[in-house]
Amino acid sequence: MQVNLKVTSGPYKGRIFSFTQHDSFLIGRSLDAHLCLPEDRYFSRNHCLLEMNPPHSYLRDLGSTNGTFLNGQRVKDAFLNNGDRIQCGETILVVEVTTTAPANLSETTQDAGVPKRPVIVMVECLNCGRREQAQASAPDEHLTFLCEDCRIELKRSPQAIPGYDTVKLLGRGGMGCVMLGREQRTGRAVAIKTLLPEFAVSDKAMRRFIREIDVAATLKHQNIVEFLDRGTHNGVVYLVTEFVDGSDASKLAEDQGGRLSYDDGISIVAQALDALSFAHAQGYIHRDFKDQNILVSGRSPNLIAKLTDFGLAKSLTQSGLSGVTMAGEMAGTLAYMPPEQLRNFRDVKPQSDIYAVGMTAYSLLTGSLALDLSKNSSVNDTIRAIFEQPTVPLSQRAPHIPRAVSDIIDRALAKDPAQRWQSAGAMRNALLHSI
Ligand SMILES: Nc1ncnc2c1ncn2[C@@H]1O[C@H](COP(=O)(O)OP(=O)(O)OP(=O)(O)O)[C@@H](O)[C@H]1O
Ligand SMILES: [Mg+2]
Repeated sequence: MQVNLKVTSGPYKGRIFSFTQHDSFLIGRSLDAHLCLPEDRYFSRNHCLLEMNPPHSYLRDLGSTNGTFLNGQRVKDAFLNNGDRIQCGETILVVEVTTTAPANLSETTQDAGVPKRPVIVMVECLNCGRREQAQASAPDEHLTFLCEDCRIELKRSPQAIPGYDTVKLLGRGGMGCVMLGREQRTGRAVAIKTLLPEFAVSDKAMRRFIREIDVAATLKHQNIVEFLDRGTHNGVVYLVTEFVDGSDASKLAEDQGGRLSYDDGISIVAQALDALSFAHAQGYIHRDFKDQNILVSGRSPNLIAKLTDFGLAKSLTQSGLSGVTMAGEMAGTLAYMPPEQLRNFRDVKPQSDIYAVGMTAYSLLTGSLALDLSKNSSVNDTIRAIFEQPTVPLSQRAPHIPRAVSDIIDRALAKDPAQRWQSAGAMRNALLHSI
C-alpha cells in the first residue's frame, strides 16, 4: 500500500511525495522540514507533522500560529483519508491512498505510476465472527482480523496460549498484556506477551513481523531478556520470553518514592548500556528504550537489569500490526523520542538510543522529565518541546548528583546526534569512571 501527498497549490505545486513505509513528514520554516518553506512568514518553524504508515496516515498541527486546515476546517490532529485536502497558507496537499509502489520509496516527482485504489473486502473477527470491511491490496488477500470489542476484551482478560498455563497477569502495555505463564513441557516460568493487531493484517505482513521477531531473538546477552518462542493463536500474536522475577525500572523508582538511589540508578543504566553496546555492534537499534523496558531483578546493590522489547515497536508499525505512533494521547511514549526519530522514523541510529538512555537515566535519577513538560502535557506540546525546547540541565533538578555524572547524561540529550555520546560503550565507560 502507498500514501501519496500531491501538492496542488503553493511553492511546491506539482510535487508528489510517496510513502510505502512507516515515515514522517514535517512541514514548516525549519530547515529540517521535508516541506521546507523558510521564507514563508505564514508558517511556524515546525508547523505540522504527518505520520505515514500506509494505508494509514495521521496529521498533527504542532501548535502553529496560523493553523492547519483539513477539508476547510482548522484541526489539531486527524486521521487522513483518500481525497483529504490539507491546507497551510497557500500550500495545499491532497492525500491519495493507492496500491501502486513506485521504484523510489521515499520521495518521487510525477512518477508514482497509475494509482490503483485499495480493494475493500469483508473480514471476519477470529474471536467472535463479526464481519467488517477492511482495505486490502487484492480481492483474494487473506487477512487476520480481531474486531475492536474483542481487542478490548482480550486485553482485559487474555486468552490462554496452547502449550502454556497462565499463572497471573504481570502488566499491560499499549497493544496487549504480559502474563506470567508456565511452559507445560518443561514446567519453567515464562513471560507471555500477547499483542492484538490493531488492523486486519495480511499473511505477508504477519510473516514479515514474525521474521523480524526471529531476527531480534538471536540477540543473546546477559542484560537482554532471552527470547524463547513466538506464534499466533486465534488472531493474537504471542511472544514468550524468560520471566524476570522482579520489577521494571519505572516501578522500582515509584516504589522508592519516585526516583532511584544514585547507586541503583547508575548500576541499572550502565547494564542497559552494556546491552545496547552489544546490540548496536550487531546492527540492532532498540528504538523504544524507556524505564518500563528495563526489567530488574535481585536486590540492591546487586541488581540485574535486562532490556526487553528490542526493535518491537518498529516491527509492529512496519508490518502494519499497529498503526501510527502519534495518534491518541501517546505523549508518554513520545517523550523519550529523539528529534531525528520524530522527523524521520526510518532514520534511526545508535545515537537515537543514546538519547533515550539519557531521558531514562534522567527520569530514574530525578523523578522528572528532562524537558519542561508535565505528565499531562499534550502530544503537541511534547513534540514541540522535543524539537525546540532545551533540556533542563540535570544538575538543576538533582544537585546531589556529582557534576561529572550529570554532564555525561546531559551530553546524551543533545538535540544534534553528532553532539551526543557516539557509542553506548563510550557512555557506559564514562559513567563507570566518573563514580
Ligand atoms: N519478561 C518479563 N518478566 C517479567 N515482567 C515482565 C516481562 N515483560 C514485561 N513485564 C512486565 O509487564 C509490563 C508491561 O509490559 P509491556 O511491554 O506490555 O508494556 P510497556 O513496556 O509498559 O509499554 P509498551 O506497550 O509501550 O511496550 C512491564 O512494565 C513489566 O513490568
Ligand atoms: Mg515493554
